[in-house]
Amino acid sequence: MKNSDRMNIRLFKPSLGQEELEAIRDAFERSWVGLGPKVAEFEEEWTRFTGSRIAVGVNSATAALHLALASFRFPEGKKVLVPSLTFSATASAAMYNRLIPVFVDSDPVTLGIDFEDAERKYDSDCVAIVPVHYAGHPVEMERLVEWSAARRLKVVEDCAHTVGGMYRGKMLGRWGDIGCFSFEEKKLMTTGDGGMMVTDDPDLFRDVKAMRWVGIDKDNWRTAERYTASDKDAMHWYYELNVLGYKYNMNDLAASIGLVQLKKLPAFNRRRSEIIRLYLDGIAGLKGIDPLLPFEPEKYPYQMFGIRTDRRNELIIRLKSLGIATGCHYTPLSMQPLFRKYSTGCPYIESEHNRFITLPLHADLADSEVEFIIDALRKFSRNENETDR
Ligand SMILES: Cc1ncc(COP(=O)(O)O)c(C=O)c1O
Repeated sequence: MKNSDRMNIRLFKPSLGQEELEAIRDAFERSWVGLGPKVAEFEEEWTRFTGSRIAVGVNSATAALHLALASFRFPEGKKVLVPSLTFSATASAAMYNRLIPVFVDSDPVTLGIDFEDAERKYDSDCVAIVPVHYAGHPVEMERLVEWSAARRLKVVEDCAHTVGGMYRGKMLGRWGDIGCFSFEEKKLMTTGDGGMMVTDDPDLFRDVKAMRWVGIDKDNWRTAERYTASDKDAMHWYYELNVLGYKYNMNDLAASIGLVQLKKLPAFNRRRSEIIRLYLDGIAGLKGIDPLLPFEPEKYPYQMFGIRTDRRNELIIRLKSLGIATGCHYTPLSMQPLFRKYSTGCPYIESEHNRFITLPLHADLADSEVEFIIDALRKFSRNENETDR
């Protein structure tokens, strides 16, 4: 095989540059790298960006989902409806709160939560639902919110795959009671690891800041400013513990990166959309290869792109031989040993996920790399047709 026959194309890749380095340098120079003023600034920017009343920065979307469900104080043993086709965190968040995940099958077209299956699985012990905008494709939120309200279910949106996606004029993450975002390195924007939770209901977030900061009801960077103040207060160091907290805070290094990434997000999302358009045009009509979703890249930002094919493993190995990284998102959680005991069956996705291949998508992907991947898919599709004959 000639060198030109092979590339080295990553599946996901963060897009980081000089501006992020400068922002970290500033944090070093201030010598404040833990929970500090940059986290507060990033939270402020996030409320402006999403239009939410409150945003709280945490160290992952996993932490955000945990605290989001915790903030409702549901009695132990109640049930939370979650899609089977998602990352572990969506269901683990229920278990961290001693709640039971109820796995719901996927809509065959959008791969979002299947409403009929949700209806079948719903019972009076259900207290919440966590829709996932899979790959960034929006769940029909107007329908989900109405359906949930009729059953008094709280709605926590898992927005790990979308940042800035507008659905029917409202940003994803603002449709439910709480929205949770991820800034993990594979996501639409990154802080290394990080997450943000948003709500319009201050009561719901009454204890969330203490819960993300080991239970302490004060920001120590604010109190630190008072340690050497010329006042007559000898108790500046005092804090109270009223709630069980976790070490889930975002730190100033992450927030400094996040503030820069948020500015770059529109350009990242535009580039991702261009790449998906190239993919869609390039694979249109290929026999045996279908887009994973009804992608609408001019309308929504996507974190993942993928296809469906009956010859998944063969194609993965072919792409691998060309230096093209692939993945499969996800093995449905209802099939995972950890969660199997909660499963009451998600027959569609438990079979259909065997046809999924995730293809490279990130803002730094070059047109030539996308063309190389499309070319490989075309050749594979042609071979398939030859084998058919
Ligand atoms: C759908 C979904 N939810 C939650 C998470 C958890 O995000 P984080 O890595 O920020 O904890 C992920 C991460 O990949 C995800 O894909």
